[in-house]
Formats: sequence, C-alpha cells, structure tokens
Amino acid sequence: MKRAKIAGTGSYVPLNRMTNDDMSNLVETSDEWIASRTGIRERRISTGENTSDLAYEAGVRALQASGLTAMDIDLIICATISPDSFMPSVACMVQERLGATRAAAFDLSAACSGLIYGMACASSFIETGMYQNILVIGAETLSKTLDWTDRSTCVLFGDGAGAVILSPSDTGKGISFIQLLSDGSKQDYLCLPAMPLRNPLIQEENSQSQVITMKGQEVFKFAVRSITDHINTVLKNMELSSVDIKYIITHQANYRIIEQAAKSSKIPMDKFYMNLDRYGNTSAATIGIALDEMAQNDMIQSGDKLILVGFGGGMTSGAVLVEWD
Ligand code: COA
Repeated sequence: MKRAKIAGTGSYVPLNRMTNDDMSNLVETSDEWIASRTGIRERRISTGENTSDLAYEAGVRALQASGLTAMDIDLIICATISPDSFMPSVACMVQERLGATRAAAFDLSAACSGLIYGMACASSFIETGMYQNILVIGAETLSKTLDWTDRSTCVLFGDGAGAVILSPSDTGKGISFIQLLSDGSKQDYLCLPAMPLRNPLIQEENSQSQVITMKGQEVFKFAVRSITDHINTVLKNMELSSVDIKYIITHQANYRIIEQAAKSSKIPMDKFYMNLDRYGNTSAATIGIALDEMAQNDMIQSGDKLILVGFGGGMTSGAVLVEWD
C-alpha cells in the first residue's frame, strides 16, 4: 500500500480587494472592530468570476506545480458550499475546462472542512490503488451567499480557491494520519439554506433566505476545541511531540481562534501559519491557499511534518498529518 503525497499545490483569488474600510461603507463597522476581533484586514470579492472559474485557475496552477498534465488526472474532487449550480458539479466544469477527459469528477460538501475531507477521500483512493493522481480543490464564492446588511457575518468571509494534487509516494513520506469528525447536533451553528421545498402539494410559501447565518460565539468555542483536540489526537496516535511538527495550518477563520487553540495545545504561535488578514475566511479554500503560499515561498522542505486542521458548518472537522515528500 502506497501513501498519498502532495505532488503540487495551486491557488487563485479574484483580483478585487475589499478592505475593512470598504466594509464600513456598507455596514456599521470599522477596521478597528474587524481587525481586533478577527485579525482580518481585507478579503477578495469576485466581480464576475464564479466558483468554477476560481477552481479552474487553482487547478491549472496545481497541475503546473506537479509537472503532471490534465490527462494524468484520474479524479477531481471539488469541495464547495457555493457551487455555480447543484448540477452540473463544479468538478465536472473544471474537468471539461482542464481537458482532463480521463477523470471522474464530483463535488463534496463539508463546509470549511471540505479540503480536509477531500484529501481524506483522495488519500484513501490512492492507498487502495484505485486511482493514481487526484486533484482536490476547495473553491468558494461566498460573497454570493452573504447577507450584506448583516455586519456580524459579511465582514468575515471572502472568495478564493486552493488546490492540491495527491499522487502515490515512492519514499514512504506523505499522508500518514487522517481524522474526520462530524456533529450534526450542532447543525444550527452555521447555516446556508439551499432551495426551499416547493411543489404542487405544498401550500405555504417558504420565504427562508439563502444566506449564511451563524451563532458566532458557539462556533468560536467549537473551533478552539476542535483544533486543540485534533492536534492532540494526531500527536498521540503518531507518537510525536509538537517539536516534531514544522507547521500547523488550520482553517483560516479568526486570529483569536487560532491564538486560543495554540494556548490550549501549548504550541508556540509561530508554528501556526496565518494569512487570514489578507483573504478572510474563504471556507473550503483557506487551507489550500495557505499551503500554496507556503510552498511558493519555500517554507516547506522534504521531511517536514505538517498538521492540517479544518472545522466548519455541519458541524464538521478534520485533520491530516503530512510529511512533505
Ligand atoms: N462591527 C461592529 N460591531 C459588530 C460587528 C461588526 N462587524 N459584528 C458584530 N458587532 C457587534 C454586535 O452587534 C454586538 O453589539 P451589541 O453588544 O451592541 O449587541 C457586539 O459587536 C458584540 O457581538 P458578539 O457577537 O458578542 O461579538 P464577538 O466578540 O462574539 O465576536 C465574532 C463576533 C463573529 C467575531 C466571533 O464570535 C467569531 O469570530 N466567531 C467565530 C465565527 C467564525 O469563525 N465562523 C466561521 C467558522 S468556519
């Protein structure tokens, strides 16, 4: 059984920057409030590109980084909660645009844990030998899912896409531990309704609006606990200590969440990579964008161990231990 390694990373964000000052022209807020409560300074907001456009661009870059061609790809998984359409999937749209005609393709819904869930699926397919090269993309245009009059949510999120290509490792390095968790009893913490039930048998109109709603403080506590528990589980199961870990890349939602998780797991903050000041929370895309930035800046060398941790609506969470190949 061969482990899956990360063979390439890619990311793409829309050009258009929206600063906290720009947000204060839309809702009653301030740079001071947003930055001090969340660490976010600006986010990218699409002026026309949809989720499949961002996903495609991230996929192209991941392919380039891996040295593979579109015809080498066996499967495309796109993690998203903001697809262009329920059908066709974003993954199928990306498959067509890449010309990855050999690939199977599907979307996956695990909110901000989506890339971790996608990597877990891809890793398992590779370990069984069913597939060789798998493109996993986390892509979102959350800007279309926001209530732009609700200052408690609209300041937090942004648009973007991050991608990884997983391939079999010849060195024994790669993904050695995966943990996925879900807790449907907390499903009301973060919600984004899909189409309301509507048919000739239903009399009353359902006027539920299709925007993100959130119990901010509950999500905050869940996130701190999830990150801490996942890190402890990875370290314990793999008989490692935090000294063995080069970087921890968590879902980028809030600086204070990461700070509290660092404190409760007793790991120095400088091991936690952060870029949420520039992109805000791009849901399934954050971990892929962060990984790609780190790879491009030569921050990760062969043999470095990374823990990736996602958490989000569902509630869902997950962690992956990767030894860089
Ligand atoms: N600007 C200014 N004031 C704001 C504001 C904004 N953007 N958003 C909320 N407020 C106000 C509230 O209306 C409230 O005012 P009130 O006391 O007069 O009622 C006050 O700030 C405090 O609100 P509260 O919700 O208690 O703030 P908080 O300290 O919990 O911080 C979050 C709010 C959203 C920053 C915080 O709860 C959080 O980050 N939670 C996690 C969210 C997250 O990461 N979600 C995605 C996970 S995948």
